[in-house]
This record gives sequence, structure tokens and C-alpha cells, in this order.
Amino acid sequence: MDVRPLHPLFAAELIGADLTRPIEPALVDTVEEAMARYAVVVVRGQGHISDQDHIRFSRAFGPLELPPNLMFKRSDTPRRFAPELYDASNLDAHGNIAAADSLNRKYSKGNELFHTDSSFNSLPTKWSLLLGHIVTPEKGETEFVDTRVAWDRLPDEMKAKCETLTVQHNVWRSRERAGFDNIEALKKSLPAVEQPLVRVSASGRKALYIGSHADHIVGWDIEEGRAFLQDLVDRATTPDMVYAHKWQQGDLVIWDNRCTMHRATTFDYLAHKRDLRRTTINEYGEERAANEGLVAAA
Ligand code: OGA
Ligand code: MN
Repeated sequence: MDVRPLHPLFAAELIGADLTRPIEPALVDTVEEAMARYAVVVVRGQGHISDQDHIRFSRAFGPLELPPNLMFKRSDTPRRFAPELYDASNLDAHGNIAAADSLNRKYSKGNELFHTDSSFNSLPTKWSLLLGHIVTPEKGETEFVDTRVAWDRLPDEMKAKCETLTVQHNVWRSRERAGFDNIEALKKSLPAVEQPLVRVSASGRKALYIGSHADHIVGWDIEEGRAFLQDLVDRATTPDMVYAHKWQQGDLVIWDNRCTMHRATTFDYLAHKRDLRRTTINEYGEERAANEGLVAAA
């Protein structure tokens, strides 16, 4: 197996891995090491693996975070595939392109803001593993940044300030910003959690833990906190920091949610099918939806 950088700052391609075979410790070690170093790892040519292979491979690195059972449904018909997978497609349950005004579309719009998956989860999220089953002939790239690089570039006085801060994360803030209108139901499904603004990543390097689910700074005036967080996001996403992944069918893209942000970009939604399926894993804990414990407690 070979690991080749895809960008000057982070992100690499892992060549020569076969994810359909029994998962050997050597493969687990190679992926863990590449992820610690590069934070985003692309494995191309995995179009032949089944949803069950995708799930099995993911579980080798941590317990699955199951898709949230929201108080509304993303679509009103049965799912197209295994319940362990998040649907990041633009398709309805029949595999047709979902209507422009569908809940699916509105929810997905939120992914076009830089975010890190499941920072609103009370269990610590680890990685997301997104497999491209059908990709668009043009546009629709997924953009990534490394928030360890963002941390490294902060002036010392900002670093010192950030290290003292706690941030409230919730899912409705990002959806609200993206024009989603069922905010009250979301608030009941996924109550807010608090996270430190600075985390130590798997590499030992510090990272900013920010993105569109990061709503405001605990103990600060709300708008002041939002402006401070937006400034950090702006600093973390200058064009030279972005790796834009141009999808090929069968690409598996793995990212570390603890030290990166990503966003979807637009494409001709009504003209092209895009079928991307995702597993998300936690660092530890039982396999459950992000909101399960929270709803029971609410
Ligand atoms: C995701 C996500 C981006 C995309 O699946 O978590 O943000 O380009 N996807 O679909
Ligand atoms: Mn995402």
C-alpha cells in the first residue's frame, strides 16, 4: 500500500487497499497512521463494494454513529439502503431526483456551509467515510480544510484566548442559516451540546473545533461569539487551505471530524443524480443515533 499527498497542507490518497477482503491489522494501522497525518484520505476504485462492506470496514475503526431519527423524516417513503448509512444523495426513496422544494433538498443545502459532522453529538465523533455511488459529470466537489493548519496560523494571543473557550454546538443553527424552516422540530430532536474550541488531534497537533454547527461561545454575548467564530472559520478557509475533492465513481473519502471542516458545493441538482452514502464513527461508546441519549434526557 502506498500513501500519496493530494495537497501541500494535508489530504492523501491511499493506493492498493482492498476493502472487500477481511480487514487485516496492517490495513487498520496504515489507515489510522495516514488519517493522523493527513486528516483526509481518499481510497479510489471502491465502486464494487457493498453497503455491508462499507459498514464492516468502518466498524474496524470505531462504533458507528447511526443516522439520527429526527422528529420529521427526510423523505416520506422507505430508505433505499441499510439504516446504518447516512443518505447524502439528492435522490428520493425510489432513486429519482428529489423535488427542488423537498425536505431532502433543504436539509442538504445546510451541507454547503463549512462544517464538521456531528459536532452536535454528545458522543465524540471520529471520522466520516463517504462513498460515491453515482457522481455528477461536473461540479459537486466536496471541499475540505484542515483546522490544525488553521490553529498553527493563529497569532499567539488568539491561541491563548481560544484555549479558554467552550462553544455551544447544535444542528438547527446551520439549518437555519441554510434556509431550513422546520427549526422547532429539530430543536426537540437534537438539543445543543457544549464542546471545547480547541482539541488535540490524533497527531498530537492542536486543532480548532468549529464549523456551521458551532453556534456561539458559552458565557459570551451571542452575537459577539458568533462574530468571533465566523472570523475563525474565515481564517481557516482561505483558498490556499482548501482541498477540493473532485468525485469519481467509487471514491471512498474518509475525513477526521475532529480536525477538519468540509462542505458540499453546488451542481445542477435537477439535472444530475448524485448518490453518496456515508458512515460516521465515534471514538467510543454504544452504536446509537447522535440524538438518542439527548432525546431521552430532554
Ligand atoms: C456529508 C457531507 C458533502 C457532499 O456527507 O457529511 O457534508 O459533498 N457531504 O455531499
Ligand atoms: Mn457533512
